[in-house]
Amino acid sequence: MDYLKKLNKVIPSGAHTYSRAHDQFSSNTPSIFKRGKGAYLFTENKKKFLDYGMGLRSVGIGYSEDKINRAAFEAIKFGNNLTKPSHIELMAAETIIKNFKNIEMVKFAKHGSVAVTGAVKLARAYTKKEYILRCSNHPFFSFDDWFISSTNFKEGIPKSISRYTINFRYLDVVGLKNLIKKYKNQISCLVMEASTISCPTKMCCMKFPCKNVSSNNTFLKKVEQICKENKIVFILDEMITGFRWDLKGAQHLYNISPDISTFGKAIANGFSMSFVGGKRKIMEVASLKNSKKNNFFFLSSTHGAEMVSLNAFIATFNFYKKNNVIKKNKIFGQKLKDGFNKISKDLGLEEVISMEGLPCSPVINYNFGDQALKLKTFFLQEMIKKNIIIPWISISYRHGDKELNKTLSASFEALKKIGKTLKLKKNLLIKGESIKPIFTS
Ligand SMILES: Cc1ncc(COP(=O)(O)O)c(C=O)c1O
Repeated sequence: MDYLKKLNKVIPSGAHTYSRAHDQFSSNTPSIFKRGKGAYLFTENKKKFLDYGMGLRSVGIGYSEDKINRAAFEAIKFGNNLTKPSHIELMAAETIIKNFKNIEMVKFAKHGSVAVTGAVKLARAYTKKEYILRCSNHPFFSFDDWFISSTNFKEGIPKSISRYTINFRYLDVVGLKNLIKKYKNQISCLVMEASTISCPTKMCCMKFPCKNVSSNNTFLKKVEQICKENKIVFILDEMITGFRWDLKGAQHLYNISPDISTFGKAIANGFSMSFVGGKRKIMEVASLKNSKKNNFFFLSSTHGAEMVSLNAFIATFNFYKKNNVIKKNKIFGQKLKDGFNKISKDLGLEEVISMEGLPCSPVINYNFGDQALKLKTFFLQEMIKKNIIIPWISISYRHGDKELNKTLSASFEALKKIGKTLKLKKNLLIKGESIKPIFTS
């Protein structure tokens, strides 16, 4: 059955999210799966693949984890979505506020994009200013116009919108200050993630992933201070760092205090939940009792407080705490990095392919000039032959020693082939098309 053809016929790009599309994988990757369990995906023919995609990083414990499933089933039995707020809704909000020092009020949504856009809208309403500063070393914040218009995907967006979103670079304090001077008293907010693996051009190593930048506490502290001095709302997007860098967020790890934070992805182990949370004085602008004064309409969604996802979130949070998931995942990541880099070094390939980044979120560096995507395609193709899907590295609690050894032994075989091909000055043999780049800012 040609599922790829079928998918492309009924869904633009054949998938929901571009990073799931077939052109982001080597062509020998199955185009469709039936189910996931633990760290594995299964096709309808019961073929089993070790997975590092983990539902686009939304699954931090493992697929179909019994405890999380039970919480979701329980919420279904309660009716899932009620006419008035539910006890589960209150409990989820209180769990967040108790856990995150910088969050005094919270609003739920289903997607990360909606949460980040909500944060931006809230900052604009609070400051009554229109411009947005966003860090250009971070590839994605939202599918909404304010963000996409600042990338090279401009179709479908009125031209006038893009002028309100201004890019600044990670580590570039002088550049940031200059922008604030240029748009004096017109900037509502600054949006960024805590870490980056992309090299802030002309200031560092110019490579991706950058060997020198992963997170920079001094820079983050400076950003916080600059925002405070200029009355700019500091928005930290923790979609990726949340439930990975630290259970209390990267903001806790780096000791910073954003005004508003956004979370999603792994917080409910694959169930659809995101949230915007922040300081009461800002979040209160979104209260209906203030809307008469402000005419401000914030996030409002029928399914925003759906109990299935919120109860899955509470169960996920408790599971992380009880099993120290963050620490365990970091240990796995460190072992994976060390093992992979040893193989690469032993084969004399450390300048061509290596594993960089933080142990909680390692990144493979395909350092092969304009052939980097070809090298990535070849590596992914060889890993698929060993039943491993590794488009990026998202570690879950269910990735254990067995999975580590399987990954390292498959990597050894793949890297051996790469080394041999390069030594003979031959082309890497790829079946089908090379992986396509998605985004450039
Ligand atoms: C940092 C960041 N923010 C926001 C989003 C959007 O999240 P979602 O796909 O849930 O809308 C993503 C998605 O990849 C992301 O990586």
